[in-house]
Amino acid sequence: MSAVQLLLVPLALWVLQASLCHGACVEVDSDTDAVVNEGFKLGCISCKMRAEVPAEATVEWSFMPKGESEFTKIYSYEDLMSDTPDERFYERLYWNGSKKTKDLQDGSIYILNVTWNDTGTYRCIFTRTLTFTSFKFHNDTTKIVHLNVVPRLTRGIASILSEVMMYVTIVGLQVWLVVEMIYCYRKISAQGEEALRESTAEYLAIASESKENCAMVAVTE
Ligand SMILES: *[C@@H]1O[C@H](CO)[C@@H](O)[C@H](O)[C@H]1NC(C)=O
Ligand SMILES: *[C@@H]1O[C@H](CO)[C@@H](O)[C@H](O)[C@H]1NC(C)=O
Ligand SMILES: *[C@@H]1O[C@H](CO)[C@@H](O)[C@H](O)[C@H]1NC(C)=O
Ligand SMILES: *[C@@H]1O[C@H](CO)[C@@H](O)[C@H](O)[C@H]1NC(C)=O
Repeated sequence: MSAVQLLLVPLALWVLQASLCHGACVEVDSDTDAVVNEGFKLGCISCKMRAEVPAEATVEWSFMPKGESEFTKIYSYEDLMSDTPDERFYERLYWNGSKKTKDLQDGSIYILNVTWNDTGTYRCIFTRTLTFTSFKFHNDTTKIVHLNVVPRLTRGIASILSEVMMYVTIVGLQVWLVVEMIYCYRKISAQGEEALRESTAEYLAIASESKENCAMVAVTE
């Protein structure tokens, strides 16, 4: 890894952090595997394409249990207030989306104590109104999440393997860095000694030369 690459790592982290801190919107898909009896975040993000235009949005979630063919409204979020009209989800749904704003971009909700009956399809609808100087513009966005309820989270071999590889790479790079540092240190100090030896040798040579000259002077006298 060159010095440039070493510099790029913190730079990339800094850019990532900056984008997270300044709320740059990224439409990440929701997870789809929920563990029974645990909490689960149903993700739904709809980025406002024109960040500079003021807007307001409301979010509505509907649910279609596995094997059924109709959606029923289970949750809505409007004017910082939430409503859970469906008794199956009574006191089990919490807002996990954009906080303290009507200009929503994240409409995620959190399900407490997932049951087997929560298996099915969830639909999230964003209803957004952008306010331009002379007109208003409506844009609705719909996202679908197919939720699987599992006894416990089973991770694919590929996922485990890639995590192991990540640690191996990190440790490998650290070791390599230390080795490189020791090598450089030795090289530099060896060069230093070499230079010292050379200059001493040179000094001695000059000294003996001048001694010879002196001897010659002494002989001619
Ligand atoms: C989502 O809501 C749940 C329940 O209120 C809370 O425990 C959790 O920390 C929230 N997560 C985020 C990312 O807001
Ligand atoms: C969720 O589960 C916890 C622990 O199992 C329990 O204490 C809590 O009452 C449950 N909440 C709901 C809303 O069922
Ligand atoms: C799941 O659904 C079945 C059939 O509708 C119902 O009998 C059962 O009580 C439900 N279980 C839970 C945990 O809500
Ligand atoms: C509505 O918003 C979505 C994303 O939020 C965007 O992809 C789409 O182009 C918008 N529709 C219009 C008509 O601007």
